[in-house]
Amino acid sequence: MRTFRDLSQLRARVRDWKEAGQSVGVVPTMGALHAGHLSLVQAARAASDRVIVTLFVNPKQFDKPEDLAKYPRTEEADAKLLQPMGVDVLFTPDPAAIYPPGFATRVTVAGLPDVLCGAHRPGHFDGVATVVTKLLLMTGADAAFFGEKDWQQLQIIRRLVLDLNIPCRVVPCTTVREPDGLALSSRNARLSPGDRLAAPTLHREMAKAAAAMAGGMASDKALSAARAAILRAGFSEIDYLEVRAGDTLAPLEGPAPGAHLFAAAWIGGVRLIDNIGL
Ligand code: PAJ
Repeated sequence: MRTFRDLSQLRARVRDWKEAGQSVGVVPTMGALHAGHLSLVQAARAASDRVIVTLFVNPKQFDKPEDLAKYPRTEEADAKLLQPMGVDVLFTPDPAAIYPPGFATRVTVAGLPDVLCGAHRPGHFDGVATVVTKLLLMTGADAAFFGEKDWQQLQIIRRLVLDLNIPCRVVPCTTVREPDGLALSSRNARLSPGDRLAAPTLHREMAKAAAAMAGGMASDKALSAARAAILRAGFSEIDYLEVRAGDTLAPLEGPAPGAHLFAAAWIGGVRLIDNIGL
């Protein structure tokens, strides 16, 4: 595995691969890698001749400067995890290379970012859309792998790739969970031992509500029972717990083909998100 910081190195390598007729898969990340990220790398490895992992803590997608400052940076450990996985290139550009002085372009997808996490994190998805557009264009990848854990992000990326005719296939990958159901996230490391024990309640109650709705219970009844149980378990606040269409994210009354249940909730100052298909 080679580590490149310069776009020119990356471009030269990709040009060689393409000339040899090889397909390229990319896994965009912000580092602090865990088994969720590694499942994306595995999927990319299985589907592509060459694999690029990008590691860039994107300042434009942090709505609070203190969150950017405390985002874990573990490049050496990340590289060690990727090394045995058959990754060809780790691309870790400096912020100044991605956003040089004078940088003035923003990619905004209309509609999709207005709800769920976007309603609580102004500007976040513009930052994601802008950097993902750049990463896809810089790598020239034929396929890009994203986790369903960040479902809203995935839909926004699908939309922009379609709208901007970026010749890259967006490949969704299932959410990797701890044995107790908690979705893997770099934020889980910030949970106190007690909060870590309580955190799986979010997914458990979502699954219970989904089963109750599938069994015919009215969605407002199922969701208010889930809300109460999540708060009883020690969560301090629920940003949202809602049923929406998986593709357009339009609100739905209850389960329907393609519907998802989405949640974001706070525990011990950490914001956890999750979603499940209904
Ligand atoms: P990051 O949070 O590092 O996540 C990188 C990728 O890993 C995303 O596609 C995310 O959905 C996926 N992922 C995270 N946890 C997962 C889990 N438990 N199971 C499966 N996949 C999981 O998401 C970002 O970075 C950034 O917004 C990025 C797209 C890189 C743009 O900066």
